[in-house]
Amino acid sequence: MKEINIIIEKSGFKAIEINNKFASAKIYFHGAHITHFQPHGEEELLFLSKDVIFQGTTPLRGGIPICWPWFGSHPTDNTKPFHGFARNQEWELVNTENNAEEETIVEFQLTENELSINLFPYKFALIAKFTIGKALTVELITKNRDNKPFTIGGALHTYFQIEDINKISIMGLDNVKYLDATDDWKIKTQKGDITFHKLVDSVYIDTTETCIIKDLNRNIEVNKKGSSSTVIWNPWIEKSKGMKDFQNNEYLKMVCVETTNALNDIYEIKPNKTHSLSAKFNAKGLL
Ligand code: BG6
Repeated sequence: MKEINIIIEKSGFKAIEINNKFASAKIYFHGAHITHFQPHGEEELLFLSKDVIFQGTTPLRGGIPICWPWFGSHPTDNTKPFHGFARNQEWELVNTENNAEEETIVEFQLTENELSINLFPYKFALIAKFTIGKALTVELITKNRDNKPFTIGGALHTYFQIEDINKISIMGLDNVKYLDATDDWKIKTQKGDITFHKLVDSVYIDTTETCIIKDLNRNIEVNKKGSSSTVIWNPWIEKSKGMKDFQNNEYLKMVCVETTNALNDIYEIKPNKTHSLSAKFNAKGLL
């Protein structure tokens, strides 16, 4: 079997499938959106909804949506798409290679186009670089190709597959301040590990810490660079019912730990300069 295959599904969606000596993975050209990563002999890392919609105008529900060039609502114009436009565009595959450790590197690129110019009037190159090894690394590199500076936010909005939201906890944010989007954006301080009993939508600020999701049979480490905010999200019962691309009880099986450039954690990029946002995801079995 070839290590890399490009496929076109019935929906018309194009994807690259990787199956190397470490793991298998699948990345759609739509959004440069990875929906599957599974080290051989281990559990799937990423959650993907059974009701995911494959249609050019909707982002895929699960995997790692790439939010860019802003996170959440646009700072001044809420008619612009939530979480930016990159997750809803067709990207170009620009490189596949193996590194010295024999991991597979896959790079997608997005540049300015008719739609982006209306939403974000700058010339840019955005590279999404995936390293498929025993761990998964995703790096999002923004390059300013314009002659004036621009400011960006964004996220690797990672949906992790878990055993049971009622039984997991997340370590790494003890004593960190967060804005609680479910409580009028009040500023609060995390005490101890995070557990889930209701809708959670929190932006943790001034944190570069590694988070560890303590699932039943494994710990998933999220190690990040170029980010000093982290978003934790689970839609819980009522919000799940309102999402047409998400089954009512799927909130039990997922948690988002998002490597973000959110709120004030945004970057002004001068012409010809770059910003890199990256995360390494490593799942370790407990046995
Ligand atoms: C999270 C936000 O990052 O994404 C939530 O904090 C939001 O407020 C969630 O509901 C999902 O957003 P979307 O646009 O993918 O449904």
